[in-house]
Amino acid sequence: MQIIEIMEKTFIAESGDVALYLAMSKKAADEGDQETARYLYDVAMDEAHHAADFAILLGKVKDTRSNVSMMLEDEIRSEKERGQAANIALAEGDKEAFQYFEKSMHDEIKHKAGLKVILSKLQEKD
Ligand SMILES: [Fe+2]
Ligand SMILES: [Fe+2]
Repeated sequence: MQIIEIMEKTFIAESGDVALYLAMSKKAADEGDQETARYLYDVAMDEAHHAADFAILLGKVKDTRSNVSMMLEDEIRSEKERGQAANIALAEGDKEAFQYFEKSMHDEIKHKAGLKVILSKLQEKD
């Protein structure tokens, strides 16, 4: 049972590393160091694969239709949360945070739309 807890923590740690390495890759690219940017990007993808392996081990991944349904709900929730956060950022005068929350929200809307299309195609097959 202890190993399950460790795997959950590892999944979270690996997922966090994906974001950090990706952010650091973007930073290196902004600084003009494309070689380091590419390496950091590759490490980010390795960490993403590690996280994915633990997601599978932990039973977070079901059949595709269930996965898409679950993530559609998640995107709907994310869209709402990013929108609310954008409003808070705006009210507090944090323009940069506002822009990032707005961008995220628009991406969540795209994800939601894409997942809806996939889900309806999967339902047609039944
Ligand atoms: Fe890792
Ligand atoms: Fe999303």
